[in-house]
Parts: sequence; structure tokens; C-alpha cells
Amino acid sequence: MPPVLRLRRNPSPPPPPPVPLVRAPRHVAIIMDGNGRWARSRGKPRLAGHRAGTENIRRVISRFADYGVEYLTLYAFSTENWERPPYEVRGLMRLLSYFLKREANELHKEGIRLLHIGDLSPLSPRLQDQIRDAIELTKNNTRMTLAIAFNYGGRAEIVEAVRRIAADGVPPEQVSEGLITAYMNTAGLPDPDLVIRTAGEMRLSNFLLWQSAYAEFCSVSACWPDFDSPHIDDCLLAYSQRRRRFGGLLPDETDEAPSFNGHHANGRAHADEPPRDNGRNGHSA
Ligand code: FPP
Repeated sequence: MPPVLRLRRNPSPPPPPPVPLVRAPRHVAIIMDGNGRWARSRGKPRLAGHRAGTENIRRVISRFADYGVEYLTLYAFSTENWERPPYEVRGLMRLLSYFLKREANELHKEGIRLLHIGDLSPLSPRLQDQIRDAIELTKNNTRMTLAIAFNYGGRAEIVEAVRRIAADGVPPEQVSEGLITAYMNTAGLPDPDLVIRTAGEMRLSNFLLWQSAYAEFCSVSACWPDFDSPHIDDCLLAYSQRRRRFGGLLPDETDEAPSFNGHHANGRAHADEPPRDNGRNGHSA
């Protein structure tokens, strides 16, 4: 077993955000990738990577909490991860059990509410109980919500929502985006503003497909066990500089905007963006 996960005790008063942001995301969702590569590059078995990844979770929660992020969703086990060798699947189940055993009380003390998204039914009754107990223990906490996506798949979630909508006898004309959202595992949570994936990959891999329709994306080359405060700062800074249009235009981007004359002032794409060459700014459709 890995050592006890360390929490920062009595974190009061909360420190100011380490890097000042124009805008912080409310909900960050993370695809924790690269545990296997992290382990292989050190000549260790894959489970050592998952253990190191589990140890990293606390410090990541703590950093996002310092920025005032209200919701953090972690993709810990996908519906496709059952295809992995049985010893690895068993190891991941044990790590979740270990994490809950060691961390549920600590998360509670820090005011963090725990949620699970995904299908609990194939998990062992003991693990299901642990998850339910941790959810019950932390249900009234308000500092941050930590959602663990375990045995979660975006397509399976949509199928399940459609089945329940049909089973409830909802007439077709009453099916709306809002209604489907209410039938998702994530009902009550805001959509993620920012999805981060580690280990340099740029795929959603069946993660929050419905909810991420307009999420900003940040790919970080570090493997999950090495994902640390400087990466978090970079992602949040990049996010705060994105111009979120949700398919529309911002007021200064229309043909009627005062600055429109074929060029924008100062060689910048938009008046309130940093210069193009700073390498951090992202542009969305
Ligand atoms: C992807 O890395 C990671 C996973 C499939 C599991 C992530 C799980 C944890 C961090 C620990 C368990 C979770 C909790 C909440 C206690 P990979 O193994 O696919 O990496 P690779 O692509 O380098 O092989």
C-alpha cells in the first residue's frame, strides 16, 4: 500500500489565488492520463503509476480549491477500462477503496462534498457501500464538490438517460436539452468550463460528452502523477484568456464594433486579449 495521503491541515485563511486570473472556471473536469507511461519510464509496474496517480489527487484538489474552483470531476475508471487485464482492474478498484478509506474524513474536514458519477452496480457491494457512505458523510459540504467518475462512460450515460426518459413516458415534444441534462448523472452540476487531459493526449475518450459541448480544452504533456501546481496555474491562466463565444460573437467582434476596420488595434486579435505571441492564448469557434 502507498503511504497515507497528506492533507494540508487547517487551511485557514485560504490563500489568495496563486496566479491572479481575470476569470476562473467554476467546474474543471480532468482526464487523468499517463499513469502507465509514468510507471514504465521508471521501470515500474503499471499499478505503481496508478498508486502515484492516486497520491497526486489530494494536492490537485487543494490547488484548485485555492483558486475557488467549485466543482472538480476526475475521470478515474471508464466503462471501457474493464478491457484492461484483471489484475489492473482489481488494482484500480482497490485504489478507489483505499482512497475513500483514507480520504473521506479528510475531505469532509476540508468542506468537500463527494459525488460519484457512473454505474455503481458492477462494483463489489463493499466498494459500493464505501462510496455511498462517503457521499452521505460529505453531502452538506459547500467548499467544493469532488465528483469521481468511476465506471463512467458518456455514451452509456446518454443511453441510460434516454431509457429513463422513455420509461417515464415523457412525450417527444417535451424532450429538450434541459430535460436530457436533468436525466444525466451530473444533474445539478454546472457543465464543465474546462476539461484538462494529461500525458499530451487530445481526446475526450467518452468523458462528459453531453456536458462538455462548450468546454474549453487544455492538454498537458506531463503524466498524471507529475501533474502539479505549475501545470494547474498554466491551464487556469490559459482558460482565463480564452474568449468564450458559445457559437455567438462577443460585442467587439461584430462588423459594427468600433474597432472594426479590417485590423484591430495594437496588432491584437481583440482589444482585451494579450498579444498573439505569448503562446498561451486559445481561440474558440
Ligand atoms: C489513465 O492512465 C488512468 C486511469 C485509467 C486510471 C486513473 C486512476 C487513478 C489516478 C487512481 C484511481 C482513482 C481514484 C479516484 C482513487 P493509463 O494507465 O491509461 O496511462 P497510459 O496511457 O500511460 O497507459
